[in-house]
This record gives sequence, C-alpha cells and structure tokens, in this order.
Amino acid sequence: MAEEIKKERKKRSLSLIQPTSVPTLGNYLGAMRGWKDFQDDFDTVFGIADLHSITVRQDPQKLRTQTTQLYALLMATGLDPDKSILFIQSHVPQHSQLAWILNCYTQFGELNRMTQFKDKSQQHADNVNAGLFTYPSLMAADILLYQADVVPVGVDQKQHLEITRDIAERFNGIYGNVFTIPEPYITKTAAKVMSLADPTRKMSKSDPNPKGTVYLTDEPNVIMKKFKSCVYILDPPETIIKKFKSAVTDSEAQVAYREGKDGINNLMTIYSCVTGKSYEQIESEFAGKGYGDFKTAVGEAVVAELEPVQKRYNEFMKDKAYLKEKWTQGADLAQRVSQRTLDKVMKKVGFVLK
Ligand code: AMP
Ligand code: TRP
Repeated sequence: MAEEIKKERKKRSLSLIQPTSVPTLGNYLGAMRGWKDFQDDFDTVFGIADLHSITVRQDPQKLRTQTTQLYALLMATGLDPDKSILFIQSHVPQHSQLAWILNCYTQFGELNRMTQFKDKSQQHADNVNAGLFTYPSLMAADILLYQADVVPVGVDQKQHLEITRDIAERFNGIYGNVFTIPEPYITKTAAKVMSLADPTRKMSKSDPNPKGTVYLTDEPNVIMKKFKSCVYILDPPETIIKKFKSAVTDSEAQVAYREGKDGINNLMTIYSCVTGKSYEQIESEFAGKGYGDFKTAVGEAVVAELEPVQKRYNEFMKDKAYLKEKWTQGADLAQRVSQRTLDKVMKKVGFVLK
C-alpha cells in the first residue's frame, strides 16, 4: 500500500520515437541513452510512434522490421518493460480516438504555423496529406492520454509541445480539469553529434554522405555501404573504428576544443560524452599525440559504449516471442491508463457511454 502511494506520487514522463529510420550515434547520445535514467525518478511511459510515421509513405515490410528492431533496441538501452510502460502506438486505439476528438479543438491556423509541417510538406510535395497536417493533435493525444507531467524531447519538438499545452488548456477551459498540462524536458546533456564527414552538419540518418554516421540498427553491412558519414548504433565494432579513423579533422595536429576546429570539437564531444572526461582532461591526455591516436581512442570508446547494447539487442532479436510478450504487456498497460482519460473526455464532450 505504502509502495502504491509512493508510486502514485511520482511524476509521469512520456516520450515516443518514430520507427522510420536507422538510429544513429546522435540519436543514442542525444536522446535514447538518457531515457533509462528517467525510470528511477519518474513513472515512465515510452512508445514507438508508428502511427506518426505513416504521415510519410512507408514500405510496409520495412516499417514492420524497423518497429520490431526499435523495440528491441529500446530494451537493449535499458528500458525495462517491467518498470516502464513500453508500447507500440498502433496497439493502443485510444490514441487515434483521442486524436480525432482533439482535432475538433485544434484550429486550422494553429496547425498551419507548425514549422515541421512546412518543412515536411516541402520535402514530400507529392504527398501533403491530412495526417501530416494534423500530426500535432495525434502527438497531443499521445501525451494527454497519460496525463504526462514531463516530456523529454529534442528542441525540434518544442513547438509541438507548445501546441499540446494550448490544446489542453483550451479543453480544460471549457470542461474543467481534464488534462495535466505537460512540461517539455529538453535534455541538458543532449550532445549534438555532428557528421564525421562534414562536422558542420548534424549527424543524421538522412545524410546523403555515407561516411559520417554510426548506426544503431539494421543490417550494418548493407547500411555501411550507404551511410559512412553516420555512425549507427548497430555498426560492427570494426566499422565504427574505421568510420572514426576516416573522420574529417584539420591540419593543426592539436587536440583542443576551439572555434574553427569543427571535426576535432565533434570528436571531443563524443569522447567526453561516452567517457565522462572533461575537455581539459582530453586535451592533456592527447597532448603531443597525433590525430590518429585520438581518432582510434574515440572509436574504441564508442565501441565500448555500444557493444553491450548491441549484445543485448542481438539477444532480444533472437527471441521474437519474448518481444511480442513484452509489447503485448505494454499495450495492455497503456490501454488501461489511457482509457481512463478517454472515458473522462467522452463524458465531458457529451458522448453517451456504453
Ligand atoms: P530524429 O532522429 O531527428 O527523429 O530525432 C530523434 C531524437 O534524437 C531527438 O530527440 C533528437 O534530438 C535526437 N538526435 C537526432 N540526431 C541527433 C544528433 N546528431 N545529435 C544529438 N541528438 C540527436
Ligand atoms: N513527433 C516526435 C518526433 O518526431 C515523436 C513523438 C510522437 C513524440 N508522439 C510523441 C515525442 C509524444 C514525445 C511525446 O520525434
């Protein structure tokens, strides 16, 4: 009972991630790695936003594979389905149900101001669908269904958090206190990892230059040929080392964090992030040494960080029945929590309950 009360008092954090591409070292260091720590202090909900991902045309088989892989990967990074609700969005119909209702409390003008909509409708000019436009009401539903207090997201999602708060406040203004107003939690330690091939640009899975990224999932050998500029979470160790060895630097031969040394700054950020060493410590560790030694050290440190994650990932991927059991458990829990909010909303709006 006491345990129950303590649990009730914990604040709830919630975040979802789209299964649309192969997660990189940037996703890992900037977002996923920090998520497991929320499990100690918050009542945590994590989900895979597959409903969101069909706002852009997806290959069905690829979407299925990437969703499964991402679920295994989230578990491998330390998200524990017995501590958190870890679910797949499309398994929980309450998201679509609340999204429809919230659509009727969201203004055309508000949605029209979303920068992500503007960007994506330019990128996919041949498919500017209604889902792409109303995406923020679905995201608001994801958050409000669980009465989340905090939402850890990257800065790019801040505007969607603001519209969620506006929708919730508007709804509460009409019907009383139905929704908790969520706060964005922009991770303090979020390292911005840059491309290894062009360190002035973010390491991104959509990077056309294959040399800069470290991948987290998928068949690394196939991917490696395509994207060497990104390091992916599931790149094999020798690939990771190779990518770091060929990272773009400068001609100074001095490991120091300084303006204009984008490549070295990026490598120092990554090294500091995975080893916990400060820039000063790194500078003295490599004083008088060449870039070759430094690049190898960064590659090895990244391998040491990712290898245990990869090992756990491979184990989870071998046992699909276990994965299925866990996401079914996640869906059941998610439905139980979210139905409570949905019932409340339906009653307030004036729908006749069953
Ligand atoms: P995206 O892959 O752009 O959908 O982003 C998913 C999450 O990973 C967001 O929270 C981003 O802020 C984070 N993220 C993506 N790329 C990077 C990067 N290169 N460095 C740091 N964080 C990143
Ligand atoms: N829109 C987010 C992204 O593209 C993913 C997302 C969907 C999300 N629903 C959410 C994030 C709810 C936080 C909370 O990255």
